[in-house]
Amino acid sequence: MVTSKSSAKKYDVVLYGASGFVGRQTVDYFAQSADVQSSGLTWALSGRSADKLEAVRKASGAQQAGILVAEAHDAAAMDALARNARVVLSTAGPFALYGSELVAACVRHGTHYVDITGETPWVKGLIDQHHEAAQRTGARIIPFCGFDSIPSDLSAHLANAAMQERYGEACVQTKVAFSIRGGFNGGTLASLFNMLASGQSDAMADPFLLNPSGTRPANVATHADPLGPRRDADFGAWLGPFMMSMINTRVVRRSAALLGYAKGYQYQEYLRLGKGPLAAMAATSLSVGSFASQAALRLSPIRKLAQKMAPPPGAGPSEASMDGGSFRALWVGHSASGKMVRGMVADKGDPGNRATTKMLCESALALALQFDELPGGPKQGGLLTPASGLGDVLVQRLRAAGMTLQVDPSTV
Ligand SMILES: NC(=O)c1ccc[n+]([C@@H]2O[C@H](COP(=O)([O-])OP(=O)(O)OC[C@H]3O[C@@H](n4cnc5c(N)ncnc54)[C@H](OP(=O)(O)O)[C@@H]3O)[C@@H](O)[C@H]2O)c1
Repeated sequence: MVTSKSSAKKYDVVLYGASGFVGRQTVDYFAQSADVQSSGLTWALSGRSADKLEAVRKASGAQQAGILVAEAHDAAAMDALARNARVVLSTAGPFALYGSELVAACVRHGTHYVDITGETPWVKGLIDQHHEAAQRTGARIIPFCGFDSIPSDLSAHLANAAMQERYGEACVQTKVAFSIRGGFNGGTLASLFNMLASGQSDAMADPFLLNPSGTRPANVATHADPLGPRRDADFGAWLGPFMMSMINTRVVRRSAALLGYAKGYQYQEYLRLGKGPLAAMAATSLSVGSFASQAALRLSPIRKLAQKMAPPPGAGPSEASMDGGSFRALWVGHSASGKMVRGMVADKGDPGNRATTKMLCESALALALQFDELPGGPKQGGLLTPASGLGDVLVQRLRAAGMTLQVDPSTV
């Protein structure tokens, strides 16, 4: 059963943004979760439209779940939501538009919070504004609990743990090579366009944007995002730039500072393109293409045109396409003396939907059901990362939910 702490608040978990494309999938996940049923956990759907929430609840068959109507800019409604919840799981994005009041309310009420934002400048603002207050109230505020950035953050976490356990040495460098098959949601593109329109591309380019003050190294340039193609001996393959790395690397560097990874720790990630000459060509054109498209999207007319062609918020890939998706993150860790550890984080299903839903819901369930086992002890609050706020509890929950999180995989 859920711990006695739960009785002080009406709901153990509130799913905010439950009527959205990913939100509806989180409701289905909770409705079907054996852990939710066996623990007696109380939960509710929340969002701005009672009619939409009622329709989602009906479609999922979760009649036991409550409904809380709350518009994102209504401070009193956000306050009531946070007061009534132990854990809030949010999928209402763009988060820079709909997330700030909710996080502030969670911090005030010591309510734990997870989301799937990839909006690094928004999170930088939350860190500046709320980290210390959340430490005082004990609220664990954990953004980036989707495909950005759990596979990256847990790859680095596993590499560091495996190096210590196996060789008693610190991991000084981790590299991750991603392969992905998946589509884009209208909501994800809306968040990307909103971030580009906000004129915060300089902030996004800072490799240490999310680091605690005093942890920015002198040699920032050696941590710059890789732009060109490379043949990597550790992976035996050609690698090119990976579009999510501008988000994920910043999150892993915050984890490195919060968890005390090695001084000067290096983390980079790439898209894995294969072994032969065709892969070399693909890596080169991807590097040029990704540079050109990023530059083009910063121009307002091109961005407006791309926005017109993109699927609208609320839409996303078909069920068949989401079932056919997958991702694989192969990781390699090095110690200063030349020791190496390898591993893999992978799952079936569209990374931005199926895998994201699993990662986000299991993050919320880790907070709701295994709070006393989380890293840092029960008093630990603050603007945390998946690795620093959820750590091995999340690793185990995701394994139990069918995700691969392996050290020494047979495939590299
Ligand atoms: N990390 C990852 O890997 C990952 C993967 C997928 C998505 N995402 C991010 O997750 C977010 C959601 O994606 P999505 O595809 O589910 O988007 P979506 O379908 O557009 O859903 C957006 C949600 O926000 C709600 N909302 C909009 N305005 C609101 C307001 N004023 N007050 C309260 N709620 C409001 C919408 O409610 P209504 O239904 O009432 O309009 C809807 O529930 C995006 O920011 C996206 O970038 C991240």
